[in-house]
Amino acid sequence: MVSRDPSPGERAVARCNQLGVPPFSDETGLLYRPWLGPGFVATVEAVAQWMREAGMSVREDAAANLIGRYEGTTPDAPALLFGSHLDSVRDGGRYDGMLGVIAAIEVVAGFHAHGERFPFAIEIIGFGDEEGSRFPVTMLTTRAVAGVLEEHDPNAAFAELCDANGINVQQALAGMGLTPRGMMTARRRREDVLAYVEAHIEQGPVLEAEGRALGVVSGIAAQRRFEIRLHGQAGHAGTMAMSLRRDALTAASEMVLAVDRVASEAQGAEGLVATVGSLRPWPGVVNVVPGDVTFTLDVRAGTERQRDDAVEAIITAMGDIAARRSIELDLIPRENLAATPCDSRLLGLMERAVAQVTGQSARVLVSGAGHDAMIMARLAPMVMLFIRCEKGISHNPAEAVLPADVDDTIAALTAFVRLFAGN
Ligand code: GLV
Ligand code: MN
Ligand code: MN
Ligand code: MN
Repeated sequence: MVSRDPSPGERAVARCNQLGVPPFSDETGLLYRPWLGPGFVATVEAVAQWMREAGMSVREDAAANLIGRYEGTTPDAPALLFGSHLDSVRDGGRYDGMLGVIAAIEVVAGFHAHGERFPFAIEIIGFGDEEGSRFPVTMLTTRAVAGVLEEHDPNAAFAELCDANGINVQQALAGMGLTPRGMMTARRRREDVLAYVEAHIEQGPVLEAEGRALGVVSGIAAQRRFEIRLHGQAGHAGTMAMSLRRDALTAASEMVLAVDRVASEAQGAEGLVATVGSLRPWPGVVNVVPGDVTFTLDVRAGTERQRDDAVEAIITAMGDIAARRSIELDLIPRENLAATPCDSRLLGLMERAVAQVTGQSARVLVSGAGHDAMIMARLAPMVMLFIRCEKGISHNPAEAVLPADVDDTIAALTAFVRLFAGN
């Protein structure tokens, strides 16, 4: 049998798979790569090496983002940025975020192999905290690069937020020799950035259902996140009468169902979804009536109006439940992202690039998932390319892509760069 070199798509998939286990995951038997954890640090090292092999110079910025740069025909030329995130959710898939970074490295490796350069530099950014899977905030590192971190959090209050082990952002950054305020110096100058391009698995079923490898994103849904803290009264499970209880968990249970009802029953709100993804009772033992509960709320919709109407209905329902059950309710806003359209000129170029590669007119679709691109759109014109994933499954270890689709991805991004250069 004649063995052959792997295709760029096969190599990209193999690299993502390699990064799906320790030491690139913080847990054995599942992928969990939170921002600034040991798996994250090991991943940065591995990806940096692949960037170097693709002819890029590599640095880490003041927000612990990994940046590779492939120079243009002149030094210090402004850059076309590719990017996505290096972190993962807990028990996540191997391609969410990572594939966008690894596929972009293959694009540059292709140019490097032929000595092909452009009047602009190409940079690839692996962002640190798109998921918000460690601290109760998200995309601080992207905001730092886009120059909007200070506006988002003028006092760097995020520094005090803790992970599940009580380590705060400031302490985690200190481990890397970084500081919360220093992160703000990762900002890029507008004149140095021509555009931002993100390739990402679709995380939904549309492309697979239509038999297409690739799609072009028209825009990204609006999103809000909250942390909800309920305070009742802990008591003995054997002695506290049902009529006297102020059980924070039964109140939370009713609230979770209210979230589901509001989102399911809303009329005409396109893409409206609402999720309680984390719920922690305290003290969380068998014979204590739970006195406290903390849970998360994530609400998304095609427009801010639809999203905010749903948030308002959910908050009203929660207030009623809390009052009826004599529970104190604290609602802490954690994220607020506007619906973000992609740039129409870049979208047109990406449609042409996809059509060149697939021989079909490109499918254009909306992203319900959030992406670094939402923040990067504040800095530069932005466009996204979606890659089919099996059964639309994501945020799940069953996440899967076809290497042939990744070959198409790399070819489409390569065509995009040439079209962007006017060739
Ligand atoms: C992150 O993956 C998000 O879309 O919330
Ligand atoms: Mn994700
Ligand atoms: Mn992602
Ligand atoms: Mn996301």
